[in-house]
Amino acid sequence: MATTMVFKHSLPLAMLVFLIGLLPLNEPAEVDDNCIPDNFNSSYFGDKFIFGTATSAYQIEGGTDQIETGRGLSVWDTFTHDTPERIKDHTNGDIAVDFYHRYGEDIKNVKKMGFKAFRMSISWPRVIPTGRISKGKNQKGIAFYHQVLDKIIQEGLEPFVTIFHWDTPQFLETEYRGFLSPNIVDDYRDYVRLLFDEFGKKVKYWMTFNEPWALSGFAYDKGVFAPGRCSSWINSQCLDGNSATEPYIVAHHLLLAHAAAVELHRSQEYKSKLKEDSKIGITLFTFWFEPLSNKRVDIEASETALDFMFGLWMEPLTYGRYPRRVKNLVGDKLHSFTERQSQLLKKSYDFIGLQYYTAYYAKPHFQVEQEFSRYETDSHVEVTALDYKDKPIGKRAYSPWFYIYPKGIRHLLKYTKERYSDPLIYITENGIDTNDIEGQPVKEAVKDTIRIDYYRNHTWNVLRAIKDDEVNVQGYFAWSYIDNFEWNIGYTSRFGLYYVDFKDPKLPRTAKDSAIWFCEFLKNKKSELCKLRPDDADVPAPAPALAPPPPPLRPIHAPPPPPPIHAPPPATPPTQPGLQMWTQSFPSESDITSGRSRKFGKYYIF
Ligand SMILES: *[C@@H]1O[C@H](CO)[C@@H](O)[C@H](O)[C@H]1NC(C)=O
Ligand SMILES: *[C@@H]1O[C@H](CO)[C@@H](O)[C@H](O)[C@H]1NC(C)=O
Repeated sequence: MATTMVFKHSLPLAMLVFLIGLLPLNEPAEVDDNCIPDNFNSSYFGDKFIFGTATSAYQIEGGTDQIETGRGLSVWDTFTHDTPERIKDHTNGDIAVDFYHRYGEDIKNVKKMGFKAFRMSISWPRVIPTGRISKGKNQKGIAFYHQVLDKIIQEGLEPFVTIFHWDTPQFLETEYRGFLSPNIVDDYRDYVRLLFDEFGKKVKYWMTFNEPWALSGFAYDKGVFAPGRCSSWINSQCLDGNSATEPYIVAHHLLLAHAAAVELHRSQEYKSKLKEDSKIGITLFTFWFEPLSNKRVDIEASETALDFMFGLWMEPLTYGRYPRRVKNLVGDKLHSFTERQSQLLKKSYDFIGLQYYTAYYAKPHFQVEQEFSRYETDSHVEVTALDYKDKPIGKRAYSPWFYIYPKGIRHLLKYTKERYSDPLIYITENGIDTNDIEGQPVKEAVKDTIRIDYYRNHTWNVLRAIKDDEVNVQGYFAWSYIDNFEWNIGYTSRFGLYYVDFKDPKLPRTAKDSAIWFCEFLKNKKSELCKLRPDDADVPAPAPALAPPPPPLRPIHAPPPPPPIHAPPPATPPTQPGLQMWTQSFPSESDITSGRSRKFGKYYIF
């Protein structure tokens, strides 16, 4: 492609970037969401396109009893147990949805819906309890993943495996502060080596890291994800950290660790140990940013916002360097790559996993005081959900931060193609949450029309990106197969196609309407096969007879007795600001409904 060549030679880069920035404004009229044909279904994508669902280890597995499972601790175990007040409902992933014991039923459910692939992550401390291979592996953990992968393959599904989904081994955190130290690269490489040795013949698609942005930003800038570090003026619950510098240090080490894994994947040594045509990539999360107006400064602001959230990863991974805009604004806080590191990073992926949920407007914001510098505001961009007439960018979902903007996924895909020389892309996550409603009967909770509309409109826009913009997208994963532990907002947020009744110790799963919709969409017909639950939804499928869930994990170091699992939160929840990632920096619901948010609720993503 012509653009590819121009970018390779980096010539009129600024000019092209400028033009690309204009493109979303010249949206042709025929891509209106409302023109989706009635019979729209997966056959529009062709047979080779892969539809799947996605999950991650800490959010679903449970299986944390050390005697039973041999699993070591991750930073999420210590974060949730030592400081339960930092989780909205004071819960943890000790049991989660008990995938550890129920994976057979779960993988069957994914198959029944008609999906072709299952995305999961491997828990590093489950296979290497300390994170360091020389201190021993956990055969029980390795056996567990063999069984899971065998089951996935036996059901005819393709496993997509995320190597790291935020659960850093606590031992490495204690020893050298995890991703703040360059030592992480060697321990991570050894971990990857073990996975390739063990599972290389079962897994074709590998992803090195899930959403590095979330680790840099949520864990080290806002301090709301484990290990919960940030500048204390941002969040008084952070006992240590520096939001001005640490996010960039962590980003740098994440990138180097990624490059090390890809180097291994491409080495002669591993040619025969991996599946033929095995592919490696990374998954990146970004919002889409529309310029608030077609003024040059707003277009520039939207590009800068994307560079801080997306380009920070894409540019090194594609071109072996950090984005110019980020470098200009951040200066020495951004580390530099040696020539060799830069060479290893350049084109260090076979595919890119994109995770898209929502979009905002961007405009410049220049007044950031030096002593309050941090990753979130270093871009000097103001991000808002409301346009200059106070009209939101899309319909609000249930979460206050979440605006439904299906076109964003199409724009992001086109932007990625044009800016980063037309990579192979999988949408590795897309989905919408609904709030857990205390006491709501299951038969009402499974009526999730909003999720059906969301999936329908977003898959349609992915199709438009493929057909009209010729973006090379070869798969789409719905987040998530099942309701699960949503990190610092605990079980209050439900992203699943399957509903889980957390009050019932058997954790029964019930297909939501969206699961049935997806089934019909994937099987291309209204089918008896898509009767995924008893007719009236009032009787959840009886849970299989299983041993009662294991007792909660006891942290080895100074354990405060863990709170009961899935217990209701205490009567007076803590009121410090910054407790929950989404309410910390996004306008409150009343601000939005009263239209005040632009005055009072100024907030910045970076
Ligand atoms: C699925 O899509 C195809 C067109 O690709 C169409 O012919 C078929 O009728 C659709 N199925 C349903 C049930 O709408
Ligand atoms: C999504 O699709 C439905 C109909 O399929 C439509 O009514 C709605 O406005 C669409 N747009 C958004 C932003 O959800």
